[in-house]
Amino acid sequence: MRTWLTDTFDLSVPVVGAPMAGPGEGALAAAVSAGGGLGMVGVNATRSPDWIAEQAAVAGAGGHRFGIGLMAWALDNRPEQLAAVIDARPSLVSVSFGSFEPYVARLRDAGIPVTTQAGNLDDALRAERAGVDVVVARGGEGGGHGRNEIGTLPLLQTVLERVEVPVLAAGGIAGPRGLAAVLAAGAAGAWVGTAFLGCREAGNSPAARGELFRAGDTGTAYGAVFDVAQRLSWPQEYGGRGLRNAFFDTWADRLDELANDDAAARELREAREAEDFDTAYVYAGQGVGLLTEERAAAEVLADFARAEELLRRVTG
Ligand SMILES: Cc1cc2nc3c(=O)[nH]c(=O)nc-3n(C[C@H](O)[C@H](O)[C@H](O)COP(=O)(O)O)c2cc1C
Repeated sequence: MRTWLTDTFDLSVPVVGAPMAGPGEGALAAAVSAGGGLGMVGVNATRSPDWIAEQAAVAGAGGHRFGIGLMAWALDNRPEQLAAVIDARPSLVSVSFGSFEPYVARLRDAGIPVTTQAGNLDDALRAERAGVDVVVARGGEGGGHGRNEIGTLPLLQTVLERVEVPVLAAGGIAGPRGLAAVLAAGAAGAWVGTAFLGCREAGNSPAARGELFRAGDTGTAYGAVFDVAQRLSWPQEYGGRGLRNAFFDTWADRLDELANDDAAARELREAREAEDFDTAYVYAGQGVGLLTEERAAAEVLADFARAEELLRRVTG
């Protein structure tokens, strides 16, 4: 399968292993890239330049390409993250969720291709105006943080009609059928997070992976509960999608109260340490229902590669 994505980054499968702060560190990125995709390292708001350098070294250890994903709202207060990323010489950087515009030119001036995750058409048009190399059209089905305004398919169709730069599709693409669908629509590839959460190279725990395998197709919920409980300053348009649990249900309609409830914040902190998933979060998207067992990233990518055969069946 050859697309703009495979040609540009020398991949055998048109899949980017999406940045996922937490589960998606250097080891998963390396495994995704070794399997023929482009693995990315997810950097959360508090990571130091040293951590970025270490994880980039792990991701690139096999001589494979890798990318790094940053959060725009966090970079505003941590410009040192951007400098560390430029020093690490990744093949692709995403700056998502917030005012990404100022960072696009700095990265491109350093010779590094840039993308951002667009959660609606306006985001995608802003991205193109800012000069990104590729836009990720990310629907509300996706795992982790992002907008929840429009689903992947309508967003992808709208964005493909309106922007000239290559487009990747994200949100709910968890196997070859999903990849075939977005390639047929005109995407250059898929930006995939949840499907790699069940991999043994991921940075989540076996217990968290077990929760993912048990979750069904309707097992996720979207909101800001866990961010408010942790006092994280995510802009309010970006909630998170994760496995629905008792803590989420208790607080989903009481965010103002939660913001001032120190006991609830402590309860979440302790539950995370104890891996009590009735309270602690496991971020994942709607594709989680397709995860059934632990696999290696290379197996997940080999499965994605079956999209080619599915597409051939359509065209005869
Ligand atoms: C556990 C988890 C953590 C994530 N962390 C980040 C992150 O650090 N930076 C980022 O840009 N996107 C992050 N995302 C969003 C992904 O990059 C991507 O948009 C999403 O996984 C795509 O949808 P899917 O999960 O249905 O494949 C995260 C997603 C998950 C599931």
